[in-house]
Amino acid sequence: MVRAVQRSLVISAPITGPDLIPITLKINGQSFQLQVEPRRSLLDVIRLDLGLTGAKRVCNLGECGACTILANGKPIYACLALAIECQDKEILTIEGLAVDGQLDPIQDAFIRYDAVQCGYCTPGQVLAAKALFASNPRPSDEEIDRAMSGNLCRCGTYSHIRDALRGLRENPSGGKR
Ligand code: FES
Ligand code: FES
Repeated sequence: MVRAVQRSLVISAPITGPDLIPITLKINGQSFQLQVEPRRSLLDVIRLDLGLTGAKRVCNLGECGACTILANGKPIYACLALAIECQDKEILTIEGLAVDGQLDPIQDAFIRYDAVQCGYCTPGQVLAAKALFASNPRPSDEEIDRAMSGNLCRCGTYSHIRDALRGLRENPSGGKR
């Protein structure tokens, strides 16, 4: 059995608030200056304040992975991170993945292998896979399963997601099955 990956940050923010405080977040290569309540999650800030709604709020408890984003290249659950503790991190959301209109190879593989049904879990799945392939371009089947174990799909698209990632491993430049 594959154990679910751990995706929470170690809380290191000083005690502050409850009033709004100024923070700066680096998201998708852009710097954002915001006033936030210290208690607010990174997920709520990126979705509600910045309008980046790719990361989804489903369980809000660190259980489903729908809110997965990358912080310094590592997947984290944005619902479990405070926005104020992410100021020193480079945040990547699904909105920042395509470059100059060109889909990332992970996104392309999800399309080619029909690994999307309702699409609600897909941004988180794609970013979890992005982190995996960035650190390990030829992951084993078990490494793929482990890296993706923190992302649930209520539509049950698991076999297609697995096929997409195995296909990408075998043929990073694309090609149909
Ligand atoms: S919404 Fe964050 S893990 Fe489910
Ligand atoms: S595609 Fe619907 S929840 Fe995964």
